[in-house]
Amino acid sequence: MNVLGIESSCDETGVALVQVTGGAVPRLRAQALHSQIDMHQAYGGVVPELASRDHIRRVLPLTREVLAQAGCTLDEIDLVAFTRGPGLAGALLVGAGVACALAAALGKPTLGVHHLEGHLLSPFLSADPPEFPFVALLVSGGHTQLMRVDDVGRYELLGETIDDAAGEAFDKSAKLMGLGYPGGPALARLAEQGRADAFALPRPLLHTGNLDFSFAGLKTAVMTQFKRLPEPVQPAQLADLAASTQAAIVEVLVRKAMAAVRASGLKRLVIAGGVGANAELRRQLNRACEKAGVRVHYPELSLCTDNGAMIALAAAMRVQRGRATPTQDYAFDVRPRWDLAAA
Ligand code: KG4
Ligand code: ZN
Repeated sequence: MNVLGIESSCDETGVALVQVTGGAVPRLRAQALHSQIDMHQAYGGVVPELASRDHIRRVLPLTREVLAQAGCTLDEIDLVAFTRGPGLAGALLVGAGVACALAAALGKPTLGVHHLEGHLLSPFLSADPPEFPFVALLVSGGHTQLMRVDDVGRYELLGETIDDAAGEAFDKSAKLMGLGYPGGPALARLAEQGRADAFALPRPLLHTGNLDFSFAGLKTAVMTQFKRLPEPVQPAQLADLAASTQAAIVEVLVRKAMAAVRASGLKRLVIAGGVGANAELRRQLNRACEKAGVRVHYPELSLCTDNGAMIALAAAMRVQRGRATPTQDYAFDVRPRWDLAAA
C-alpha cells in the first residue's frame, strides 16, 4: 500500500510517499519539503495568510516531485493522508482540500492525521526505530508534553506545559536577543560558543514533583538579564546568555523526562518535535539515559521539524493496526485545536 502524506499546518509544506508491506515498519519512498522561513523572516514570525497562500503555490509541485522521485504514478497511490490539526486553520484547509480533491479525482480514500501523532511516530522512520511501549517527550514550537505511548492511538498524557512550549522559550528568547525567526536553531548555534553557567536562570517547576512544565517565567528572566548587559552588547556575553538559556530549558526537559520514565517503570524514551533536533538536549539525554539504563530514540534530524513523511507514516501505522477508517466521502474539516489523547 502506498500512502501519500501532505503536511501544511504551519510554515512548512511537506509531501511524502510511504510504502506499507504487511506488518513491517512502513518505508519512506520519497519526500519533498518547502520551508517558508525566508518569507516569514521579515515579519519576525509566521503570518497566517501568507502561509496559506504559499501552501497553495507549493503543494502540487511538491507532490509531482515526490511521485517522480519514487517513480510512482498517481494511480499507484492507495491512500491520501493530510494533517487535520492542530495548526493554523487556513493553512490546514489547503492541505486538507488538496488531499481530498486529489483522492476524489483518483477514487481513493483519505485520512486526516493529528500533527503531533506524526511527530510522535517519526522516530519509526529512523535507523534505530523504537518498540512500544515507551515514554515520549514531545517538544515542538507549540507543544511540550510527556506521554505514555502503549501503541499507535494509545496515548496517555503524563504532563505538559502550563504556558509556553519549549520551542517557544527558544524562539522568544532568541527574538529578544535579536537572533531572528525561528530562533531555536540560531540560539543553539550561538550557545555552542558560550558558557552555560554564566547567568543564573530559573528552572521552572523542577521541584514540584509533577510532570508539568512552565517556560513563560524563563523568557522574562532572559529579558531581564539581556537588558542588564552593558551597551554595546559584546558577542561573547550574548553567547553566554544563549548558552545559559539553552541550559535552563534542556535541564528542565531532561529532568522531567527522566522522572516520567522512572514513574512509568518503562525503559524506553522517545524524543519528537522540532526541539528534538537540539544537540545539547541530545547530549544531556544520552548521558542521563545511559546512566539510568534507558534506551533513547530520536527522529532523523531532517524529520524533527515539520514534514510530510511523518503524516504519511502516522496514517500508514494507524491503518496497519486497524486504528483508523479512511473515508471516501471527501467532506473534510480541519481541527486547529485538537487534543492528541482524543484523536
Ligand atoms: O515541531 P516543529 O517543527 O513545529 C511545531 O509543530 O511547532 O518545531 C519547531 C520548533 C521551533 O520552536 C524551533 O525554534 C525549534 O522547534 N527548533 C529548535 C531547534 N531546531 C528547531 N530548538 C532548539 N534547537 C534546535 N536545534
Ligand atoms: Zn510540528
